[in-house]
Amino acid sequence: MVSTLPNPGSINLKPATKAVVEESILAPRFYTTDFDKTASFDLSTQAQEFEAVLTEMKTDYNRHHFVRTEAFQQSWDHIQGEERQAFLDYLERSCVSEFSGFLLFKELSRKLKGRNPVLSEAFSLMARDEARHAGFLNKAMQDFGLSLDLGKLTRNRTYTFFPIDWVIYTVYLSEKIGYWRYILIYRHLQQHPENRCYPLFHYFESWCQDENRHGDIFKVILRSQPQLWNNWASKLWSRFFLLTVFATHSLTVHERSTFYTMLGLDPTAFDADVIRETNNTAARAFPSVLDVDHPQFFPRLHRCSDRNLQIQAIERSSQPKAIKFLRKLPLMAGTLWDLVCIYCTAGRDAEALRTEVC
Ligand SMILES: [Fe+2]
Ligand SMILES: [Fe+2]
Repeated sequence: MVSTLPNPGSINLKPATKAVVEESILAPRFYTTDFDKTASFDLSTQAQEFEAVLTEMKTDYNRHHFVRTEAFQQSWDHIQGEERQAFLDYLERSCVSEFSGFLLFKELSRKLKGRNPVLSEAFSLMARDEARHAGFLNKAMQDFGLSLDLGKLTRNRTYTFFPIDWVIYTVYLSEKIGYWRYILIYRHLQQHPENRCYPLFHYFESWCQDENRHGDIFKVILRSQPQLWNNWASKLWSRFFLLTVFATHSLTVHERSTFYTMLGLDPTAFDADVIRETNNTAARAFPSVLDVDHPQFFPRLHRCSDRNLQIQAIERSSQPKAIKFLRKLPLMAGTLWDLVCIYCTAGRDAEALRTEVC
């Protein structure tokens, strides 16, 4: 449920509507998957855990949370220039990402109805949350004179097919990394309220609990399917998806460093904290995680984000395409090499760690 109070600063101004989101390798994508295989999932080995997370979801703790207060009722025109653009980019990316989750969960819920009712209900409850999140972010964008036409966006976007096993790994990670992003920003702004430049951040504490619960549902699904954690291939896939999610995060945070600096955060430290915490959390669900304490892990990742910034600078230049390509080639090769080196570094056996803890 999202309700809106009129904004006196822009009450007569209709926000520009945007239906096309810039496509890039880092942009959030829209996914579709193998619904028949998902419908056949047997959750019986995790029945108790699933019941517990479903009860939590049905309780709907955030039913009245996403209500815009008077704090939004002012003009935000004092945020200008590079900072305004960085803030809008953040809102847009977050909104698309939440909306992409909504569409996938909604479709899964619809396709599984009558075939796997329990799972269908879980996806429906997650879609409910993601719709609220996307709607709330879209309202925030309107405060800055822009809004996303989510209907048009749905029709215009291309959907990428992902096998359900990949969906489970990646959505689990994106929910947990989302949790850490939101909670670390919230905690930082609790300590530095002078940097809380917009009321949206007040909502992050309860908001991130939604993402945490979504992650828990995916953890239960993952653990109910032995092929996703009890063989060597699952260990390789786990580390592969951790690396892709972390590399995307690192590149994105450094691309949008102005936004984090605006909040008084050091982008590099924030990036490392989010990755470290998400990797630790993933060790509770995945069979193997990355060795983020390896002395070369973060230096390699940061070299990749530095190269990404150089690639973007080349892209913006007015040189001929062929010259741009030749200049980008060694940078892309260097990034690929660093990522392969990280991937080939021995991971941490999370199954063994879990047994030790127990
Ligand atoms: Fe969300
Ligand atoms: Fe979520």
